[in-house]
Amino acid sequence: MKKNIRFYTQKNREAWNEVMPRHQKAVKQKLDQSFSVPGYTCINDQNFLQVLEKINLKGKKIVHLCCNNGTELMSLKNMGAGHCLGIDICDAAITEARERAEKTGIDCEFIRTDVYDIPQEFNESFDIALITAGGIGWLPDINLFFKKVSNLLQNSGIVLLHEIHPFSEMLPFDDNNCENKLQIIEPYFRDEPIEENSSLDYLGGTDYIAKTQYWHVHTISEIIMALINNSLLIKHFSEHPQDCSAVHKKQEDLKAGIPLSYLLIGKKTVYPNAEKTNDI
Ligand SMILES: C[S@@+](CC[C@H](N)C(=O)[O-])C[C@H]1O[C@@H](n2cnc3c(N)ncnc32)[C@H](O)[C@@H]1O
Repeated sequence: MKKNIRFYTQKNREAWNEVMPRHQKAVKQKLDQSFSVPGYTCINDQNFLQVLEKINLKGKKIVHLCCNNGTELMSLKNMGAGHCLGIDICDAAITEARERAEKTGIDCEFIRTDVYDIPQEFNESFDIALITAGGIGWLPDINLFFKKVSNLLQNSGIVLLHEIHPFSEMLPFDDNNCENKLQIIEPYFRDEPIEENSSLDYLGGTDYIAKTQYWHVHTISEIIMALINNSLLIKHFSEHPQDCSAVHKKQEDLKAGIPLSYLLIGKKTVYPNAEKTNDI
C-alpha cells in the first residue's frame, strides 16, 4: 500500500545523506579543482547544450530542483545565468554546494528542502526551473511536483527537463548481471514505487547495503499530463539515444536505437479568466 509523500521523501533523504561521503571520496577533489578554473562547466551533453543555447541563459533567473551538490547550476552560472537557486533535500549535498560556491566565488544560493516544502516566498521568482538526470524518479507525486514548479515560475517562465527516459527503466542497469542488456526485465507501468537497498554510489562504484530508498518511475504520459494540468504549455519534446544517467551506458554503446534520455520544455501560460477545467 502506498504511504504518504513525506514517508518516501524522508527515507530518500536518509539514503542520500548516507551515500554523499562516498560520492565525495570519489569526485570532490576533482570538482574542487575543476571549479577553481574561471568559467568551468561540467555540462557536456550535446543534446542538453543545444537546448540551452536555444533558450539563451544570459541573465535568466534559474531554480534547479534536486540539484545535488550544485555542479550543474554552478556551470550554468558560469555560462552567464542570472540569479541561481539550487534546491535539494540532502543535507550533505547542500553543504558541499555552499562550500564550493563560497570558495570559488560562483554566486549561487542553495537551500536544503524537500521540493514539496519550498517556501512560498520563492513563488513567481524564476525564468527557468530546471530538473536534470535522475531528479524526478525520487518524487512520489509528479502532479504536485509540477504544481510547485509552476508556482515558482513567472508567467512565461519555462520548465526544462533533461531526464532519464522511462523506457530505459525496463532494461537492466549497467551493473545488473543480465547479459542481454536489451532484454525487457521490468514493466513500463508500475503502481508501486521500487523499494531498494542497493548502492547509490554510481560515482565511486562501491557496493554497500544502503538505507531503504524509493524510486518512482513516471511514464512519459504521466509527465506530460502533469505539465498540462499545471499550466505548462509544451514547447519542446525530444527523445535521445544518449544516456544522461551514468547507469545505462552499455545500452548507449550498443547503438540499438533505444530512447535513453529526453528533453522537455513547458512554458507557464496562464490565460486571464480561464476556467479551471480538465475538459478537452
Ligand atoms: C541523481 S541526483 C541529481 C543529480 C543531478 N542531476 C546532478 O547531476 O547533480 C538526485 C538528487 O535528488 C535529490 N532529491 C531526492 N528527493 C528530493 C526531494 N524530495 N526534494 C529535493 N531533492 C530531492 C537527492 O538528494 C539527490 O541529490
